[in-house]
Amino acid sequence: MAIGGHLSSRSLTRLANALGGLEQGRWFADTGPRVPNLPDRFAVFDEAVRRVRGSQPLYLEFGVYRGRTLRYWASHLSSAQARFVGFDSFEGLPEDWQPNAQRGAFSVGTPPSIDDPRVSFVVGWFDHTLASFEPPPHDQLIVNLDCDLYSSTRLVLDWLAAHLEQGTLVYFDDLFNRDHQWRALREWLEESGKGARPVAMARWGHHLLFEVDNVRVT
Ligand SMILES: C[S@@+](CC[C@H](N)C(=O)[O-])C[C@H]1O[C@@H](n2cnc3c(N)ncnc32)[C@H](O)[C@@H]1O
Repeated sequence: MAIGGHLSSRSLTRLANALGGLEQGRWFADTGPRVPNLPDRFAVFDEAVRRVRGSQPLYLEFGVYRGRTLRYWASHLSSAQARFVGFDSFEGLPEDWQPNAQRGAFSVGTPPSIDDPRVSFVVGWFDHTLASFEPPPHDQLIVNLDCDLYSSTRLVLDWLAAHLEQGTLVYFDDLFNRDHQWRALREWLEESGKGARPVAMARWGHHLLFEVDNVRVT
């Protein structure tokens, strides 16, 4: 308590990040997944692309911002039947996340311009837009969770529960803070009836890709 009074909120966030990293290390040691640590998240995406089996994949990205990762996916999945849906308020984060990414961070106002008819956007806050979203026909679902916050990630995972199938790929972009995506992931693994196993990572778990199967990993 007394020491806490001398710590800035930035220091407390650093501690939460450090603890998140340590918890992840413990979790990897306990569950023992042999997951290759790739150079960066784009190498993780390439591994995900290799796991896309059908001709009608549906890629859902939660947190689009300027569209960097959505463009990457659209240019690496060539099937004419593939669909890419980007969800974002484009008004930035609804709550504070890190000291350098407070409420409103990443606000750009409008969706990026992506010249590909397979790409569309669902503009608004996830708690409003997901309630009425019906996924278009697909033979495999790929989900990119790049919305930073616990609350946003948890909202998407709750929606996703009814749509998980064998082979669904779920990517977490920011697993370093124990109070945000790492917390949402832990809860998902504990609560999901389907089970999922990690298949690739970068930056030692900061970016982590799961494939849904019937093996529980908790
Ligand atoms: C880190 S940015 C996404 C970065 C992007 N994927 C890229 O790699 O360039 C996070 C985005 O999530 C969006 N976001 C977070 N929570 C949201 C929510 N609950 N509803 C809608 N958008 C949300 C923010 O508006 C922001 O644009």
